Amino acid sequence: MSKVIAIANFKGGCGKTTSAIDLSAAFARLGKKVLAIDSDGQGHLTIGFGFSKKQQITLKNMLENEIMGFDYDPTEAILHTGEGVDIIPANKLISGIALDAADNPELVLKGYIDRIRGLYDVIVIDCSPSFGMMNINVLAASDGVIIPTKPEYFGIDGLQEIIGSVRSIKSRFNPDLGIEGILFTMDTSRLNNTKRNKEAVQAAFGEDINIYDLSIPNAVAMAEASSEGVSIHSYDRKCKGAENYLEIAKEVLANG
Ligand SMILES: Nc1ncnc2c1ncn2[C@@H]1O[C@H](COP(=O)(O)OP(=O)(O)OP(=O)(O)O)[C@@H](O)[C@H]1O
Ligand SMILES: [Mg+2]
Repeated sequence: MSKVIAIANFKGGCGKTTSAIDLSAAFARLGKKVLAIDSDGQGHLTIGFGFSKKQQITLKNMLENEIMGFDYDPTEAILHTGEGVDIIPANKLISGIALDAADNPELVLKGYIDRIRGLYDVIVIDCSPSFGMMNINVLAASDGVIIPTKPEYFGIDGLQEIIGSVRSIKSRFNPDLGIEGILFTMDTSRLNNTKRNKEAVQAAFGEDINIYDLSIPNAVAMAEASSEGVSIHSYDRKCKGAENYLEIAKEVLANG
């Protein structure tokens, strides 16, 4: 049985893509067959795994085939990284996709994923920082959601929005959707203000939602890895961020 995990938060710059890359690579290190899907027109997951955004075949083409009901090869968009992770790239052209033209506009990505999920143990989807039809598709196609957030005051606002949307999509399209957990990224726990903000998240959501004990520290190596086109596990596997992404990946797998 494969598991589809969205890395989502409508707030920008909270570590979604970094978490998608580093968790995908962690799952591969744990011996899993992994696909990472870039659903964001910024194409950051695509670049972060070392590929150009100028790909002939991207997620957009796969979804268009679904919308049109064509007979097509669903593996055609897959690229292979050097880290044991396959990816489906995206670029800005994805914003032109006419999801509304489908019979079930919210379920186009699910239709595509259903064709390829048998090939993988884990499928990780990197989301764009906005609420729109593509992210509805991502949540409708996922089994679980990991919500990265910076431990900052405005983070709580973002958490409220994404958690509300997950609940709404669960009730409308995807009864099996669950929240895997809230993950603190770019953590500067030595600062009192950060500690206070983490406590506020715990108080607001901790009763109903898993909040990972381990967080991802703010460290320049995390950003450097992406600019080199590799995960943190290839760039500096002994750093705390790499170790903690690996532990969280184990926890996600143990969670079924
Ligand atoms: N733990 C970390 N320590 C330091 N820098 C980090 C860390 N995680 C991510 N970054 C950097 O912070 C910036 C934002 O991270 P990232 O791109 O992962 O966020 P995002 O949520 O995907 O952003 P967007 O909403 O634009 O898609 C990037 O420059 C990234 O390299
Ligand atoms: Mg991103």
